[in-house]
Amino acid sequence: MLLASGHTAEALQGEELEHQVRDFKGYNNGLVRLNPGRWLFPTDYTKLADKLYDYKFRESDVVVMTWPKCGTTWMQEIVWTMRNNPDLDNPQAMVPTHNRVPFLELDILLNSQNIPPLGEDSELMKAFRYRCPHKDPKDGILMQITEVSPDPRTIKTHLPFSLLNPHLLDTAKVIYVARNPKDVVVSYHHHSRLIKFHDFSSSLDQFVQYFVDDDLVFGPYWMHLKEAWEKREHPNLHFVNYEDLKQNNMVEMRKINEFLGTNLTEEQLQKVAKYTNFSEMKTREETQSDPKKTIVFNTDIVTSSGGFYRKGKAGDWKEHLTPEMEAKIDQWTQQKTKDLGSSFRFSS
Ligand code: A3P
Repeated sequence: MLLASGHTAEALQGEELEHQVRDFKGYNNGLVRLNPGRWLFPTDYTKLADKLYDYKFRESDVVVMTWPKCGTTWMQEIVWTMRNNPDLDNPQAMVPTHNRVPFLELDILLNSQNIPPLGEDSELMKAFRYRCPHKDPKDGILMQITEVSPDPRTIKTHLPFSLLNPHLLDTAKVIYVARNPKDVVVSYHHHSRLIKFHDFSSSLDQFVQYFVDDDLVFGPYWMHLKEAWEKREHPNLHFVNYEDLKQNNMVEMRKINEFLGTNLTEEQLQKVAKYTNFSEMKTREETQSDPKKTIVFNTDIVTSSGGFYRKGKAGDWKEHLTPEMEAKIDQWTQQKTKDLGSSFRFSS
């Protein structure tokens, strides 16, 4: 199948598919591989691929783009708060962050047979029917919710530049967050066990192997990064490292303020920084009642290893990876990031 982006999409077959479906129970509708790039997605991606590629952004949009587990939620909350709640007095902030910042391509994960079908009584469908009357959910629930979201919109995506509208950067601002691959692996492993769309049931060792083979859903991390890194000089792209945001929080907050043109005072920035720090966000999430959590979270994993807000640290991989796993990821990093040039280095 040829996509509007120029990629071909082919269904995963044979042993490759068997392995994936055995280890990730959430991928029971199958997967597709896109080339060039070897991007890997659940089959449903192909139903929306062209619409996602054609999706028209607006000048006032800020798109938070990351590979999974690089700190999307943190950044989307910073951006939304800087733009919509700099004095922390906007009642809208009480709404969970994922309901204020739409996840553009979420539909591609939603059809997993591992979660109950999205019935008319689900929170998401009720929100869709209310906000998008007479629209067809098959055209992308989240894409259509994004469409009717009030300006200025902050939008989350895990798609790489090559699968989004080629005019994105000429139209809207993009903040790209990169994270050390070892922490990404540990965090994505936890997430894949936690969330039933993925439902990973094998070992961390196996997960590291999937990562270094570039065989995880959302495709090769290095390729995603490369596409953004190559555009880093574009005035509408701001590149942030999770580790820098963690270690030099105020320095990075000032840079984001300047990039967004939000003109927040130092006092406002301090407030936003505190409001969006890990413990505050984790506490807020725990106190917000969200029926989605009981449907898509594996509650035994929440009990044994934590929920969505797990550790929020740089370097937590040291507590989880064996020297062999570390060596595998180091080798992957050395090989795969070679052509990003000498100016590229992961922070640690
Ligand atoms: P850990 O699993 O290492 O804790 P994403 O939002 O892209 O899915 O990334 C999730 C990761 O970012 C998780 O990492 C999560 O705990 C962390 N995170 C979320 N909010 C954060 C915050 N305010 N500060 C630091 N890390 C945060």
